[in-house]
Amino acid sequence: MASGISDHNRRRLGRINRNFFLHIHANKVHPNSLKMTYTFGLGVILGFFFVIMILTGVILMMNYTPSVERAYDSVKDIMFIVPGGRYIRNIHRWAAHGMVLLSFLHMIRVFFTGGYLGGRRLNWIFGVVILFLVMFMNFSGYLLPWDQLAYWAVTIGSNIAASFRELTDILGITQGFDVGGFIMKLLIGDESVGQAALSRFFMMHVIFLPVTLMVFLGLHFWRIRKDGGISRPVSNDAVESPSPGSQKIFSWPVVMWAELAILLMTAAILLIMAFLFDAPLREQANPVFPENPAKSPWYFLGIQELVSYSAFAGGVIIPVLFLVFLISIPYLDREDQNIGVWFSGRQGRRITWQSVLFAVIITIALVFILVRYGWLRTWFPDIPQILVMLLNPATLSALFYILWAKWTGSRTGSGRMSAIAMFTCAMTGFIIYTAIGIWFRGLNWEFYW
Ligand code: HEM
Repeated sequence: MASGISDHNRRRLGRINRNFFLHIHANKVHPNSLKMTYTFGLGVILGFFFVIMILTGVILMMNYTPSVERAYDSVKDIMFIVPGGRYIRNIHRWAAHGMVLLSFLHMIRVFFTGGYLGGRRLNWIFGVVILFLVMFMNFSGYLLPWDQLAYWAVTIGSNIAASFRELTDILGITQGFDVGGFIMKLLIGDESVGQAALSRFFMMHVIFLPVTLMVFLGLHFWRIRKDGGISRPVSNDAVESPSPGSQKIFSWPVVMWAELAILLMTAAILLIMAFLFDAPLREQANPVFPENPAKSPWYFLGIQELVSYSAFAGGVIIPVLFLVFLISIPYLDREDQNIGVWFSGRQGRRITWQSVLFAVIITIALVFILVRYGWLRTWFPDIPQILVMLLNPATLSALFYILWAKWTGSRTGSGRMSAIAMFTCAMTGFIIYTAIGIWFRGLNWEFYW
């Protein structure tokens, strides 16, 4: 008791410090870390998904052959011959999609609670890198079954990677300076998807991306510890604060129990999904029979929709702008008050709803005009392509979102409100364009109800 710590608490501290799995936690955490309506347990679930992906992935790898001749049959064997193979593949597939979806939701939660503030800038940037790694992990695994779905989805993906060609074609320099072709070749190793692509995707999927992701997750968790745990309202910050509800609590055993409960619940949902829904496996890939419509994986369908307006605008300008915006969020918004408060309070909540409404109206109006009346090329058949590239629903949506965010910033005098307006519009636009790609595009990418 000489140091002021009771024997009971000393035992708790010892448990956390000695145990390899527990020592990732601080000895004590703020009650906010346990508030379900704050984190929704999303980071923990994501970490758990990653472990599941590695475990099931290693088992799948033992039965999979990454060759154009054998890949499809080996996946069929996994589904129909290897004992339990079907469930392992289903779990792997659903956890993979879950990871992409939850990474977006986790990012949205971190953004709206100001979790990138208070010295957490670097961790936000690590998070953005992780988001893209998770998407490419998923995308590289997409090709491996070598069925029609995989083949044509990746063909579309590689065409998106070649989007630069629209610009070099306009400038007439593609012959000597084919950046799009170079990026595409880097990705698939050839002019079209074949053995080179399968080998590349396999290596990226089982070695390069998981190892890189592991490194960044290590950095992510390290930063959470270094940043003093997750964000929380500043008024509750002081560890010694006597105000009720603000005292830090021992990680052992409360946090452990909470995490165990989340893990069990996630495992149960995943197992039920794997039992009820099989991962898709269509006919073997056939390069001479294109799928119609050929669709990329769902998280790239928003981009595929934009690419259908203009390859360069949809495949390069908008994704780069989005990435630059995500990375610069902590530098645009430097207001450190209201950290740990959803939407930064009443005003932010109002701006969020207004921005959702604004983005829905603008985006749907632009798509409506395009679908109902056509676009520049329909109205003026001889118009230079550069104008179509610069003025289309994708670029106009982005322009309107930026103007809205600037106006919000100037009318509220707050960088945070401007960031909220921009982030909300960007996410709303992303969801709408993705939904159009998933549900409203049929044969030849025609719009249908
Ligand atoms: C596999 C993906 C990821 C894993 C496993 C992961 C894990 C975690 C965990 C366990 C936490 C603490 C608890 C929680 O907030 O739920 C956390 C917090 C955080 N994450 Fe992630 N994360 C991932 C992706 C991302 C992404 C995509 C971003 C942002 C673009 C991000 C940014 C952050 C930030 C800034 C914090 C600190 C938030 C705060 O203090 O409130 N993370 N992450």
